[in-house]
Amino acid sequence: MRGRLGGTSARAAQGHPRRGGHFFIRAKIWVVSANTRPTGQPSQTYDSAFLKACRREPVPHTPVWFMRQAGRSLPEYRKLREGTQMLESCMRPDLVTEITLQPVRRHKVDAAIFFSDIVVPLKAIGVDLDIKPGIGPVVAQPIRRREDLAQLRDLTPEDVSYVTEAIGMLTGELGSTPLIGFAGAPFTLASYLVEGGPSKNHEHTKALMYGDPELWADLLDRLAEITSAFLKVQIEAGASAVQLFDSWVGALAPADYRRSVMPASAKVLESVASYGVPRIHFGVGTGELLGLMGEAGADVMGVDYRVSLDEAVRRVGPGKALQGNLDPAVLFSTPEAVEAKTDEVLAAAAGLEGHVFNLGHGVLPTTDPDALTRLVDYVHTKTAR
Ligand code: CP3
Repeated sequence: MRGRLGGTSARAAQGHPRRGGHFFIRAKIWVVSANTRPTGQPSQTYDSAFLKACRREPVPHTPVWFMRQAGRSLPEYRKLREGTQMLESCMRPDLVTEITLQPVRRHKVDAAIFFSDIVVPLKAIGVDLDIKPGIGPVVAQPIRRREDLAQLRDLTPEDVSYVTEAIGMLTGELGSTPLIGFAGAPFTLASYLVEGGPSKNHEHTKALMYGDPELWADLLDRLAEITSAFLKVQIEAGASAVQLFDSWVGALAPADYRRSVMPASAKVLESVASYGVPRIHFGVGTGELLGLMGEAGADVMGVDYRVSLDEAVRRVGPGKALQGNLDPAVLFSTPEAVEAKTDEVLAAAAGLEGHVFNLGHGVLPTTDPDALTRLVDYVHTKTAR
């Protein structure tokens, strides 16, 4: 797959972000133009079905991508990752580029998602953490007291130069296929940092949130700064959209979300508003929070599989596209059952202004990749107009 505008050479002509201030500004103008299409500037991804759906414009077919589309469901991913730790692979632009492209080639999805992890920016500023296979992120010294905040310094573009480099390579290869950048939202990052690892009940996180609201607010504000900086790096390097994952915020009641989380998420989303790239916001089990999460500043609300899209649009209100929401476990059923459940999602999406087809959470690692390829083709065929 080669870029329609000559990929890397087109980018080189614009100057590379890492070569100093002058080039940095020129690169930034080019990136914004890729999404806002000022006159006289060709744009590679602007007319893609994915970006049109995000902007709630008419589309030739409903665009499809999958959360966790790059990863263990693909044999070519498992082969490439052999002998390389997860975090190490996120820091290798060659691996990141190849892994990000794998599902685009195989499934013909309408967007790529940058291969990385939500804890990469934390690792990059020196937080002692690792991603343990089959477990997830584990933090050496959990943050529970004010002095622990010292672990969280500001993130600079130089801290994640491998991200800029990988995205430069990727956008060249992807051509007209948009690249989605992403970050973990402050609550979900805080939950890993405060618990020290994955948690079912988030008890230490909630203890801090209720017991020391001032420290909690300061922690979320620090994380909002880091997250904003990480998203800006990805957009300036060429990402056409961003997704803010607040995976575990569904653990909260709406009043607590509004008081203790929404200001930090809103700060992140606002910090990238001026780029004009669509901002997608998603969490698991967030049916009761959809309205508030949308209010935090999203252009596209991700919906998990527990709320149908026709109900979700009532909760989110007008002016936003929706993304979702086939239960990822449905893919373990027969092809007929997958089609029937997909039809249900498409029927519920029929009245939406903009719909990006996705799963209601990430691809499960043991999913048959052929079921995903068939699903993309089915949605494209069924929605062709
Ligand atoms: O294809 C994509 O979606 C892009 C890659 C991606 C990864 N992590 C790669 C990954 C994305 C978008 C993420 C985000 C992420 N990471 C989230 C938010 C999305 C969600 O699922 O809600 C969260 C909560 C994390 C934290 C995390 N990292 C978990 C829970 C795990 C899984 C642990 C396990 O082994 O089951 C990870 C590790 C991780 N991140 C893997 C991948 C492909 C698995 C590591 C491996 O392949 O060895």
